[in-house]
Parts: sequence; C-alpha cells; structure tokens
Amino acid sequence: MRKRTIIGLFILLSICMITGCTKKEEPEKKNIITNGNSAVIYFSATGITEKIAQRIAEYSKSDLIEIIPKEEYTKQDLDYNKDCRANKEQSDSEARPEIKNQIDISTYNTIYLGYPIWWGTNPKIILTLLDTYDFTNKTIIPFCTSGSTDISGSVIDLRNYNTNLTIKDGKRFSANDSDEKIQTFINQYNEVKNEMKVVIQNEEYRIELEDNDTVKQLLNIIPLELQMNELNGNEKYVYLKNPLPTNSKVPERIEKGDVMLFGDNCLVIFYKSFETEYSYTKIGHIDNLPDLGKDSITIELK
Ligand SMILES: Cc1cc2nc3c(=O)[nH]c(=O)nc-3n(C[C@H](O)[C@H](O)[C@H](O)COP(=O)(O)O)c2cc1C
Repeated sequence: MRKRTIIGLFILLSICMITGCTKKEEPEKKNIITNGNSAVIYFSATGITEKIAQRIAEYSKSDLIEIIPKEEYTKQDLDYNKDCRANKEQSDSEARPEIKNQIDISTYNTIYLGYPIWWGTNPKIILTLLDTYDFTNKTIIPFCTSGSTDISGSVIDLRNYNTNLTIKDGKRFSANDSDEKIQTFINQYNEVKNEMKVVIQNEEYRIELEDNDTVKQLLNIIPLELQMNELNGNEKYVYLKNPLPTNSKVPERIEKGDVMLFGDNCLVIFYKSFETEYSYTKIGHIDNLPDLGKDSITIELK
C-alpha cells in the first residue's frame, strides 16, 4: 500500500517537473489586503503553494507573509531522487532551517499556514516558525500543496509537535483548484454574521442577512464602495467585479428593502414592493429603507 502511494507520488512529481513547476519567479512580498485580523503565512520552494496562498489571502482579506529561508532552496536542494538537502532535513529530527525574515504575528487571531508536503509531512522550516513565534491563543488553519499526499499526516505531526496549539484540520490544494474550492475552505472556518451595515446617502442601515453561501462570500469581499444605477423606479443595481455563489428562485413578491443577487454578479436593492417573475438569490433585508429616488446612488457595504 505504502509502496503504491510512493510510486504514485513519484509519477505525479515527474509530471509536475515536465510541466514546468520549476523555481518560481521572484515573489511579490507585499501584503495584498489587510484587515489586521488574519494572515496567510506560507513557505513555498517552487511557487505552487505561494499561488494558493495568494488566493487565500485575497479571498479571506488576510495579510500575506512569506517564510523566506535564510539559505534559499536550489533545484539540487530539492532533488528528492538524490540525497538532497531537503531529504536530509526531513530525515533529521533536529533540523530547523533558519528563517531570513522577521514575522510579526502579534495582531493576528487566525493564521492560515501554508506549506508543500515533503515526504508526507511539513518541511522542517515550519517547525522553525513554530519555535520562533508564540502561536498560543491563535487559530492555525493549515493548507498545503503536494503531488498527491493529503494534509492530514502533517497536521497530526504539527499537533504532536506542540500540543498547546489550536490547529484545525486544514486542506490540501492542487495548483489549479477552483476559486470555489478556495472560497468554501475559507467559509468553512469563518462564522456567518447575520448582519451587515450599508451606508446610503449618508444614512446607515442594517441589512438582516440570509444564511447562505452568497452571503458568506459577500462578507469576504466587504468593505465595498459601489455606485448603483437606477432601474424601473423600484431598484438600484450594480454589477460586482467577481461572481458570487447562487441559489436563485422566483420570490414571486419583492418587498421594499430586499437585497438580492440577480444572476451571479448583479447586486440589487429594491426600494418598492412589487410582484416579480424573475429569479434571485436573497441576500438580506433592510428595514425602514426610504424611497431612493430616481438617480444613481453611492453605497458603502461594511
Ligand atoms: C523533497 C520533496 C519531497 C516531497 N514529498 C512529497 C510527498 O511526500 N508527497 C507528495 O504528494 N508530494 C511531495 N512532494 C511534492 C511537493 O509537495 C509539491 O510539488 C508541492 O506542490 C510543491 O510546493 P511548492 O512549489 O510550494 O514548494 C515533495 C517535493 C519535494 C521537493
């Protein structure tokens, strides 16, 4: 069984090498989006985990922080068919490769921790990270990329390494995994809030939210400032830059204050009630919404 897994792994690795998973280009080291609360901290030797890390940071509005090894891993260092540096480190229980950069984790409650799988587990530099900084009272959500090995073995190893840490089950990704898989992963670990605020013409209103994937994803992309267009004397609408998950149905009646998604990217606020034959995914409802007039409006969702 173990032999078959290892053969499978090496077939996958060979495909990976042929298709060009070689040394990554110089990564962009600046943070993508910040809310001061969560960070994606990752190590990536050939750039695959890095791409997933960037996408997780973007969708979860986390800071993006790379773990940069003091001694960079060369192609030879990663040549696992030989007695390479990576193999030596993985089989040496004392190995703690040095980290070049200082990482400030003090402001984060949640850390998405990313790494490639090396010989069934996390690279030893992840242990250096756990040794260097105090992760107690933080939630660690691991993610990995690999030829085929799942994340579970590495999570068991990390939990055994420091039993004081809160380490979630996490997820393994492939280089080309869909945005939906990344969003589902993030949503899984984020509480659903049941309200959102919207500022319309300098007045703040509360949107009572539905509990669905559309809302979860919308919560991931706020705050947003949007210019909404007028339509039919009863609604304001705006096309969002990226689609949201949908679960649409015909509500038969629209109520004044309903906030809906039309299609997968058209956000609509209705300011009059009427019967409809169109289908929408309901996002929520605003009580006490006034007539919004005939002009386009600017709103802020937060
Ligand atoms: C030394 C070494 C050991 C590896 N061991 C495994 C393994 O046990 N299982 C697996 O599925 N992939 C293994 N891989 C493949 C990597 O996990 C995979 O290519 C990963 O996506 C690379 O991520 P990175 O580009 O972020 O470094 C190994 C790669 C190296 C260099």
